[in-house]
Amino acid sequence: MSFIESYGPWALITGASSGIGKEFAYQLAEKGLNLVLTARRKERLIEISSDLKNRFSIEVRIAVSDLSLENFLRSILKECEDIHIGLLVNNAGYGITGPFLGNDQKKERDMIHVNCLAPTVLAHEFGSKMMKKNHGGMIFVSSILGHMPTPFMSNYAATKSYNLLLGEALWYELKSWNIDVLVLAPGTTESEFASVSEMKAVNAMPAESVVSCALKSLGKKHLCIPGFQNKLTVALLNFFPGKLKIKTLALAMKLLGRS
Ligand SMILES: NC(=O)c1ccc[n+]([C@@H]2O[C@H](COP(=O)([O-])OP(=O)(O)OC[C@H]3O[C@@H](n4cnc5c(N)ncnc54)[C@H](OP(=O)(O)O)[C@@H]3O)[C@@H](O)[C@H]2O)c1
Repeated sequence: MSFIESYGPWALITGASSGIGKEFAYQLAEKGLNLVLTARRKERLIEISSDLKNRFSIEVRIAVSDLSLENFLRSILKECEDIHIGLLVNNAGYGITGPFLGNDQKKERDMIHVNCLAPTVLAHEFGSKMMKKNHGGMIFVSSILGHMPTPFMSNYAATKSYNLLLGEALWYELKSWNIDVLVLAPGTTESEFASVSEMKAVNAMPAESVVSCALKSLGKKHLCIPGFQNKLTVALLNFFPGKLKIKTLALAMKLLGRS
């Protein structure tokens, strides 16, 4: 089957207003998929949507939604009620750095809503519809930190670990209905993530390479870690004994974030 037959006619991308999500929009548009773009910043989405429509022969819809809110699904479902989403890109997310007990509790809870609850609900909602068509795809954007307990970014790393475990398990479960699930676990990537999360971005990969690695892996692999350096970091740290791994990550966060 072609890419469009497997994952079309529409893709839903969360966090499409910048960084990795925006790049997914351009690369999927190039492959001919129609797009539903969602994020909070409406002006950004309008701008991206009109550029995509000018450059590619596709349809684009926007659904403004704050994924930290209880009713986040309403505007998304409204835009999707008369179309079939063949590919779900669960990309929206942000990080919080700093000592856990020094951080605002609501911010930490909202991050779990955006990074974990929303992707789970969206996977269930659109996965059920893909199951009826007996094909489709889902991408969960985790992080290399999803493989590592990370002091001073503890809750963020835990949310990314959630996406890693959920996505990898669903890769197996959903195969029965020809739904390809991929976990994308990038390292530092060029985007607004570092400034939103108040940390330094060192050796950032272009979002373009991260997304093309994911789209090449979809349907072939269960996990994509883009870039040799990121693969090596995950492999090496997994060899470290538990406490040493945590201490190494703490040191890295002292250099890169708020500690
Ligand atoms: N960049 C990195 O170094 C890196 C590394 C590993 C993993 N990741 C993961 O990659 C994903 C994409 O991040 P990025 O690097 O592209 O960062 P980004 O440029 O900051 O993009 C984050 C996206 O998420 C959306 N978002 C944030 N909070 C939201 C909310 N409450 N409701 C709805 N949408 C929300 C933002 O849109 P609005 O602000 O318009 O709502 C934006 O489109 C995230 O899941 C992140 O954890 C990034």
